[in-house]
Amino acid sequence: MLSFPEVLVAKKAIVWPEIEKYLAGLVLLPSYCQIPKKYSPLVSFHQKITAEYPRRQGKYLRPTLVLLTAEAMGFPQEKALKTAAAMQVSEDWLLGHDDVEDNSQERRGQPTLHRLYGVELAINAGDALHILMGKILADNFPLLGQKKALAIEEEFYQMLSRTALGQTAEIKWTQENRLNLTDEDIFFILDGKTSYYTIAGPMRLGAILANGSQKQLVSLYQFGQILGRAFQIRDDLLDLTSDFAGFKKQTGNDIYEGKRTIMLAHLLRSAKGRDRQKLLKVLAKKREEKSDEEVLWVIKAMEKYGSLSYGEKLTRKLAKKAGEFFEKNLGFLKKEPARSQIRAGIDFMVERKY
Ligand code: IPE
Ligand code: IPE
Ligand code: MG
Ligand code: MG
Repeated sequence: MLSFPEVLVAKKAIVWPEIEKYLAGLVLLPSYCQIPKKYSPLVSFHQKITAEYPRRQGKYLRPTLVLLTAEAMGFPQEKALKTAAAMQVSEDWLLGHDDVEDNSQERRGQPTLHRLYGVELAINAGDALHILMGKILADNFPLLGQKKALAIEEEFYQMLSRTALGQTAEIKWTQENRLNLTDEDIFFILDGKTSYYTIAGPMRLGAILANGSQKQLVSLYQFGQILGRAFQIRDDLLDLTSDFAGFKKQTGNDIYEGKRTIMLAHLLRSAKGRDRQKLLKVLAKKREEKSDEEVLWVIKAMEKYGSLSYGEKLTRKLAKKAGEFFEKNLGFLKKEPARSQIRAGIDFMVERKY
């Protein structure tokens, strides 16, 4: 059986050509609105920056989950391909906008789009991809029939609405420099910006394609909530401790950003005396005012007060719970090898190095 990273590579090889086809069509305009030849360099530039994040690719976790879930429920992969492609394109525009919102420096091992071309063009490239996602979803209608294609649209709407709400909570609380966040508050952020978007939504899309029942869809939401939390805490731990297997974003990027994470909430509850004073001073600063030393100091403090091991323990606990939930409630993901591949994905989420 393929390992989960091998499954990701195999699914990427199927989904990417579909996305590439749509990207190539970006500037194929109808005859009534042809663009004079003298503007072709600008048109090429538009195409280039719009395709930049899709070309960098990433792990393809979400489209892989769409395909595996559909497969595990006996639905043919070819007919799930557009939904998987739209899922990945949604991530490519979301991350483009997220990088502006977070003022991140690196994405998938290279400078962020807004650093390369400015905020205005980065947002606009995200808009172009957003509308491309809509086109791919519209093309589902002749492929799947009206009822199912509409149900897929509705799930995209629910999933992305919840994602935007999660982003609002995170950005607002970071702007306000909120210091008294409980784990429950952090989970409120994660459930939207990650759990629904990264696990529950993609799996529910796969199940909708395969005519899953309401009960099955609810179970997938619950499963995604548990595993998605683990995925994001792992992501936040990697941000603090690793170089993303060479795909360095910037160690401690989240500290620069002031991002509200499980580890930061833990540290805020635990740091005492002068450590707490220093922590509050660093957090009150804007990104550009924070020095590398201060950021490293916060990471060291997270080590000292056990915030990193708290996060690690929590991810392991959530992964175990997800595994149990999978065995108990997701028996309808029956077909092999897809079932075992999804099962292997649970461990990948918490052990991954990238
Ligand atoms: C990044 O997700 C956004 C999060 C919710 C953490 P991924 O880690 O799946 O990003 P790529 O697509 O593989 O780069
Ligand atoms: C991005 O979350 C989540 C979405 C775009 C839905 P983060 O801001 O935590 O992810 P990274 O760290 O930039 O990848
Ligand atoms: Mg971000
Ligand atoms: Mg963000």
